Amino acid sequence: MTIGIDKMGFYTPHYVLDMTDLANARGDDPAKYHIGIGQSEMAVVPPTQDVVTMAANATEQILDATDRDQIDLILFATESGIDNSKAGAVYLQHLLKLSEHSRAIEIKQACYSATAALQLGKDYLKAHPGKRVLVIAADIARYGLETAGEITQGGGAVAMIMSENPRILAISDESTYLTRDVMDFWRPVYATEARVDGHYSANVYTDFFTDVWTRFSDTYHHEISDFDAMLFHLPFSKMGLKALRTVLPEDQTVADKLTSQFDQARLWNRHVGNLYTGSLYLSLLSLLAHGDLHAGSQLGLFSYGSGAEGEFFTGTIQADYQEGFDKAAIQTLLDKRTPVSVAEYERIFKDSLPTNGQDRALDISHDSAKYVLGGIKNEQRQYLVQ
Ligand code: HMG
Repeated sequence: MTIGIDKMGFYTPHYVLDMTDLANARGDDPAKYHIGIGQSEMAVVPPTQDVVTMAANATEQILDATDRDQIDLILFATESGIDNSKAGAVYLQHLLKLSEHSRAIEIKQACYSATAALQLGKDYLKAHPGKRVLVIAADIARYGLETAGEITQGGGAVAMIMSENPRILAISDESTYLTRDVMDFWRPVYATEARVDGHYSANVYTDFFTDVWTRFSDTYHHEISDFDAMLFHLPFSKMGLKALRTVLPEDQTVADKLTSQFDQARLWNRHVGNLYTGSLYLSLLSLLAHGDLHAGSQLGLFSYGSGAEGEFFTGTIQADYQEGFDKAAIQTLLDKRTPVSVAEYERIFKDSLPTNGQDRALDISHDSAKYVLGGIKNEQRQYLVQ
């Protein structure tokens, strides 16, 4: 019996910022952003969207009656949680009208936690035959205006439904992981922007990849040439390329194939930016949509979350993988976004919900997503379905 990802959905808000505009406003060479960082556009998240609404909008794309019947566990991976106590998964279960006889929890470890959720979901399905697990990876990447991290912001949600005999990716039991207490990136509970030691974080990312990949190849006797594509957590798309280059072999046939597949796997990420927990899985979606794949293609996936935790694991592409996601819907979502100026982006960035207990109603007229945040009342978020 195989277990893995049966379906995938994606949502990112309807505003987008062109990286050339941001570079010009900051007095930088646009080539630094487009080539040096590897980003063309960046999602801009309005106050009417948070991780719960983005998760609901992503899941809506794929949910059917069988899922409603069989989803037994909802794992909500995020580091942009809206409550220190109540899980985003509980709001999501209610908004999507999923069965109340399901478990719903939130899990956190920076960008890594969606991978933890997938691995836990795989073991859960072994123990609960016939059930399904909904894994959410939803985040808003915020560093602050005019900081070095500003150009690596973004946001969105990836929803994954796990099952036996999945349509997209069978996840193998082979994996290696590493956890080490490192202060490369963190966000104190009183802060809405991440604290980061940028260049150090990039070095830790690469060191973790080297560690888990070396351990993986030693343990399971795999070579890089065994893989049809290598996928990476993409805080910005150049980061993955840098990691990939550390393992490319001299054999140009293999090196060219993996580089070309990686370019397809970062296409959509280039237009969204970092979505923390969801970045690796948006990259998987991008590869599914644009890569050279067939039943049996072997994928290597490197997941990284600052703080820090890394994992290398593998999966096998299934024959019906193209039926498990809606390429046209995702492309349309990206194409139909409204471009914002740098001034509008800065205004949206500063426009946050009150944190002093006051009520505030949000203007939702600009946001046509099905699930939106209407404001805050009596210190409770007001979710609306349109
Ligand atoms: P920076 O210091 O402004 O940029 O910040 P830089 O000077 O290092 O330049 C970036 C690249 O652009 C360099 O390429 C330059 O050479 C190139 P590299 O040498 O690295 O290959 N460049 C140019 N290329 C073409 N034309 C030009 C040009 N000028 C320069 N004219 C930094 C960059 C990433 C440090 C910053 O944006 C930052 O701090 N970002 C946030 C941290 C981050 O994303 N870290 C990644 C690893 S940690 C991680 O992935 C976890 C995370 O997702 C969080 C979580 O787990 O929750 C972040």
